[in-house]
Amino acid sequence: MSVSIRFRLNGTDLCLDIAPAERLLDLLRYRLDLPGSKEGCGEGECGACTVYLDGLPVDACLVPAWQVRGRDVETIEAIDPATLDVFLRTGATQCGACTPGVVMTGSWIRDHPQVLETHAIRELMAGNLCRCTGYDGIVEGVEAALEGAGVGAETVAGGADRQPNPPSIRPLECAAIVGSGEIFRPHTLDHALSLLADRPDAVPIAGATDLLVHWPGRPAAHDRTYVDLTAIEALRPHRWTEDALILGGLTTYWDVIGDARAAEEFPLLRAAGRQVGAIQIQARGTWAGNIANASPAADGVPVLMAYDAVLTLASTAGEEEVALDEFYLGYKEMRMKPDQIITSIRLPRRSFDVQRFDKVGSRAAQAITKVGLAVTHAPSAGWRVVANSVASTVTRCHASERLLASGAAISGPEAFDDAIHSDIAPIDDIRSTAAYRARVLGRLLYFGLRDCAPGLA
Ligand code: FES
Ligand code: FES
Repeated sequence: MSVSIRFRLNGTDLCLDIAPAERLLDLLRYRLDLPGSKEGCGEGECGACTVYLDGLPVDACLVPAWQVRGRDVETIEAIDPATLDVFLRTGATQCGACTPGVVMTGSWIRDHPQVLETHAIRELMAGNLCRCTGYDGIVEGVEAALEGAGVGAETVAGGADRQPNPPSIRPLECAAIVGSGEIFRPHTLDHALSLLADRPDAVPIAGATDLLVHWPGRPAAHDRTYVDLTAIEALRPHRWTEDALILGGLTTYWDVIGDARAAEEFPLLRAAGRQVGAIQIQARGTWAGNIANASPAADGVPVLMAYDAVLTLASTAGEEEVALDEFYLGYKEMRMKPDQIITSIRLPRRSFDVQRFDKVGSRAAQAITKVGLAVTHAPSAGWRVVANSVASTVTRCHASERLLASGAAISGPEAFDDAIHSDIAPIDDIRSTAAYRARVLGRLLYFGLRDCAPGLA
């Protein structure tokens, strides 16, 4: 089976057949003769495969090729070679394996300097790993690119303006991964729901940032049926009502991070979104996907739960609402049927006097959380304490909430021990020990809330 797609690549319209399991990275490298994008990790961590998708940096290793249908893709081959000069001058490249990705993200920052009002260069470059050079030269290279952006900018303007020669197209037989699966890409919610109702084994897919991790090594996944939701425009926007912020089923982290009003009323959304992964992941990953993936380490879920999120689940049988803190039944078990999808996430608007988000991991973004915590207090609703990576699901910590609400004197982190042991069930694993996780959670609670909770001294 093949799928016919049209899209714009480096300023040229292309129409070609792709295999259902082909990744964008493989399509570029093996069939379109554009080997500039590299494969380092194949799991969205190194950024060597960074390309622009509709103007945002994304990891091409995590993009199913069929999802670029009707969209605009730009690769390192469209960037003016002069762009590399500043990185050479600052010593930002040695072996060069990371350099195409570094130049793509660095050029994007140069062309969108407004992002520096809310982000540091180092944070924006977090999704581009370099194993030889060190990061000071890379950051200096981006700074130098920014300084040169206003002077003779036309000489370094990359992207569609440059329009390299149209690529040659190798036949479908040259696809790196073929697979025998089926892809459906509905444009309406009703169509998506009827496809899911008719095909109980079909997998709904949106940002794909989890599903495509190590994709070449997962042959069984290449033969499945997928219902791609990304063409359902109605699910993308988030909106405000009198009493709620409503995220769409396809609202991405980046959509929320860039919304000043959301940052003001629900600051933990921006805080968590910025640590869920680097910009390449933030641009693709969805809040609903983070919920439905059901990882106990999900970084987006604790803040949603601390804001009392309510999910709308839809199927051909109708809609139902489920509170997020009642959604998980056990490890990877959810109160959701195979033919249902999350179409919206409603967050009630409240006045909060405490809002905290903490992530403890080996680094801020791009690392699986060892211990995570989201805490809110609203005079109208009381305490919400939610932890991740400390149980089989993201967990609301009711005993800790009761302790905080009691106003009892809490003179140190150990005062949380009893409550924590009743709230969580951590495990020893490659990243941490159960004892460490419990101990750190007590410290996050005590030192994080010391200045804002009655009873803590
Ligand atoms: Fe590492 Fe894509 S190959 S992020
Ligand atoms: Fe070698 Fe960055 S220059 S990995």
